[in-house]
Amino acid sequence: MNKNIVLIGFMGSGKTSVGKRLSMNLKREFIDMDDFIEKREGMTVTEIFEKKGEAAFREMERELCQRFALPKGKIIATGGGVIKSKENVENLKKGGVIIYLSSTPKKIAYNLRYDTTRPLLAGDNKEEKIARLMAEREGLYKSCADITIDVSELNLEGTLKEIYKALDL
Ligand code: S3P
Repeated sequence: MNKNIVLIGFMGSGKTSVGKRLSMNLKREFIDMDDFIEKREGMTVTEIFEKKGEAAFREMERELCQRFALPKGKIIATGGGVIKSKENVENLKKGGVIIYLSSTPKKIAYNLRYDTTRPLLAGDNKEEKIARLMAEREGLYKSCADITIDVSELNLEGTLKEIYKALDL
């Protein structure tokens, strides 16, 4: 399968960890979009949001998604907001199969309990912020996914198994 494997889902749903393991096991190149942008800009995502604004970050995501319109067998972990742009979704779909790692606000809040790197969740009432943003985005995640995996009760190994099963690998 030369299609890219594209992981989408909310912050803290495990896209990066799953992507790294898929890359190792399937011997395919791994690209984490946030990481790629941070390295290129020499700034963290939080710094980009602070200094250049969210719109500038979204433009960086958009440019990167254009490159992923070609099927090159890569494993791609997207940022949680990538699906807000129809153009991004179209490009990612052209080049790959889209896997949505679906989870609950409770589990995500738990996963991110010590996290300070997500500007959209900064401050108090993290679980509430997650629930609000999730309600806005859930329909989008579901509608653009080729495969949806509920990871709320799964560990990394369990998630990988479900992915292999769904992809017939
Ligand atoms: C965002 C998710 C983050 C990062 C940025 C915005 C979002 O990526 O791109 O903080 O809008 O959901 P992760 O999903 O990898 O945390």
